[in-house]
Amino acid sequence: MAYSRITGVGHYVPENIITNEYLTTLMDTSDAWITERTGIKERRYFTKGKDTNASMATEASKIALARANLSATAIDFIIYATITPDYFFPGPGFILQRNLGIAGIGVLDIRDQCSGFVYALSVADQFIRSGMYRNILVVGAEIQSTFLNHTTEGRGVAVIFGDGAGAAVVQATEDENHRILSTHLHADGTYAEELYVKEPGSSGGERFYEQLLENPQMGDVVMNGNAVFKHAVVRFPEVIKEALAHNQLQSSDIDLLVPHQANLRIAEYVRQQLGLTPAQVMTNIQYYGNTTAASIPIAMSEAWEQGRINAGDLVCLAAFGSGFTWGSALLRW
Ligand code: ACO
Repeated sequence: MAYSRITGVGHYVPENIITNEYLTTLMDTSDAWITERTGIKERRYFTKGKDTNASMATEASKIALARANLSATAIDFIIYATITPDYFFPGPGFILQRNLGIAGIGVLDIRDQCSGFVYALSVADQFIRSGMYRNILVVGAEIQSTFLNHTTEGRGVAVIFGDGAGAAVVQATEDENHRILSTHLHADGTYAEELYVKEPGSSGGERFYEQLLENPQMGDVVMNGNAVFKHAVVRFPEVIKEALAHNQLQSSDIDLLVPHQANLRIAEYVRQQLGLTPAQVMTNIQYYGNTTAASIPIAMSEAWEQGRINAGDLVCLAAFGSGFTWGSALLRW
């Protein structure tokens, strides 16, 4: 029986650092408000002409491949999670494949917003356990800065999000002691409009750019922050406990929880709910903001670099996001 295992992780963040102080020059906000509400001190924005969604993913993937000691030509499938593709279609997974020089293999683009990476990892796990593939590249990447309304009108959302990319190499293994133990995926479309971008959409009755010309706000991210917060603090602990129960484990067994970096207050609440110490929870939203599908692989890669993930550790990935979607992956590293 083949299991799957993450054998290499990597990340790339653009060099352009956007501090809270800088945002105060664009909108009526303050470092104190942003820090208190979200924990974010700075985020990265892509540099036009240098970075694209797929170029950042390419850099992250090359690092993950090197750490897995695997050549790109050994990859037999790509799964790419993003909600901010370079083109409306095709998705950036195809550009990544081209950049890596591995034309011919299958590419699957995944949306699923902030839960995109956990969904992608789960699909990779199923493909490997079914015997269909042995080496899968799983990516989460976002350029969100161009979707944000950097005026006082958009401040409730604009201060939260950032750009970046993370990647993981997932490989088949027969080793029961180092593998993905389980994944659990959920969604509730009742809340689809609590966090969404309406345009470019296909069902507005007019060509979407005509609607956007008339009403540019239709392209903004709309977020009911209060609803997101209330659901997130329930779903995160729920889906982590589901993963632990499925594997007859306790929260005290977790060596490192890598939650989607939505908001430091949410991560802190989840930590307390599960009775974990700060050392058991990875947070880096302070430096990168919320990078949606990229947040978990970036955090996982940084945690690995910092020596916080070691062979044999029980690592839990957990996500919540627009849709609403939520999910977890429990790994024995
Ligand atoms: N700077 C200064 N003031 C602001 C800003 C800002 N950036 N944004 C909003 N405000 C103002 C509002 O206008 C409002 O002013 P008013 O009282 O005069 O009307 C006041 O601050 C309070 O606004 P609220 O929206 O009620 O602020 P709240 O305390 O709820 O915090 C926040 C907003 C941070 C979004 C909070 O609801 C939250 O943390 N929600 C969770 C959402 C989240 O984490 N989203 C992440 C992305 S989704 C995901 O990854 C799952």
